[in-house]
Amino acid sequence: MKDTYILAIETSCDETSCSIVKNGKEDIATVVNSQIDVHKLFGGVVPELASRMHLENITIVIDETLKKANMKLEDMDAFACTYAPGLMGSLLVGLETTKTLSLVYNKPFIKVNHMMGHIYANNINNDLAYPLIALVISGGHTDLILMENETSFKYLGSTLDDAVGESFDKVARILNLPYPGGPNVEKYAKEGKPTYKMPEINTKGKYDFSFSGLKSHCINLAHNEKQRGNVINEFDLACSFQNVVSKELTIKAERALKDFDVKTLILCGGVAANSFIREELHKMCDKNNINFYVPERRYCTDNATMIGAAAYVLYKNKNFADYSANAESSIRL
Ligand code: KG4
Ligand code: ZN
Repeated sequence: MKDTYILAIETSCDETSCSIVKNGKEDIATVVNSQIDVHKLFGGVVPELASRMHLENITIVIDETLKKANMKLEDMDAFACTYAPGLMGSLLVGLETTKTLSLVYNKPFIKVNHMMGHIYANNINNDLAYPLIALVISGGHTDLILMENETSFKYLGSTLDDAVGESFDKVARILNLPYPGGPNVEKYAKEGKPTYKMPEINTKGKYDFSFSGLKSHCINLAHNEKQRGNVINEFDLACSFQNVVSKELTIKAERALKDFDVKTLILCGGVAANSFIREELHKMCDKNNINFYVPERRYCTDNATMIGAAAYVLYKNKNFADYSANAESSIRL
């Protein structure tokens, strides 16, 4: 069978990324241009700046990717991009660039949901088997999804308030750690012990999550200690927080796997780069004889390779988009 090359673009937040993916599995070349150094100065992503920087960088990033792959735009079988969810202005840059490439080279245009991309990061150099449960943990989402086949996504539960990554970023702010907070909180947690008592997490839905109470508790704890003239142990606070987040994710994932009698768990999204969370979920899966998959760290945080991997599934199903497609800031799979 002829090989399929898809050029994929990801611009949903603060990474301008392009990738050429062969048959949905092989990363031929990927470039990720991160804007973190700029947004860091403001303590978080500034949407207007993000879209301007995507505009400045997108052509350069595509050109670099083609050079790295030693390929030409004419060699591509389709052009794909993230169309939702994300920052509107940022998404539009990737979307319009991709439509233009598709129009000029007369090849299919494929629009990909960013969360499908995160899930399909697990299919790079790998063969997923169904049914499976996907635990998606990113800066904007925390979802437990049952997949009975490669295109069916049944939401079992989601966060009722903050996403996991968002709560990591907020706790980082309490600890005066720079954006993005997740990796920095993880570094602190490695040095600490779980000495601080954290609140119980209660949700009505069996598979739902809630992290805003935990974040408020950390803020109050730091504030109260300061008022009393005490110095908070920042390493222990990071460790106590990370422990309870990981426990919550593990409990809900284990419950879903048992209730639906599913033998495969896949973890994905930016927070899946966290070693402690990866290990805890892995241990739970080993204990229950569950197959556990998590992408390489570079495919956990935002990248275009995962968009190319997901686009291939849509390509096989001839699920092509037309040029009237618009960006959407929030939409489920
Ligand atoms: O998937 P992603 O790159 O962007 C979104 O789609 O949101 O996820 C970014 C989130 C940020 O909140 C970041 O702090 C978090 O992932 N993150 C981590 C780690 N690496 C990234 N959180 C905890 N530990 C990490 N090592
Ligand atoms: Zn993401």
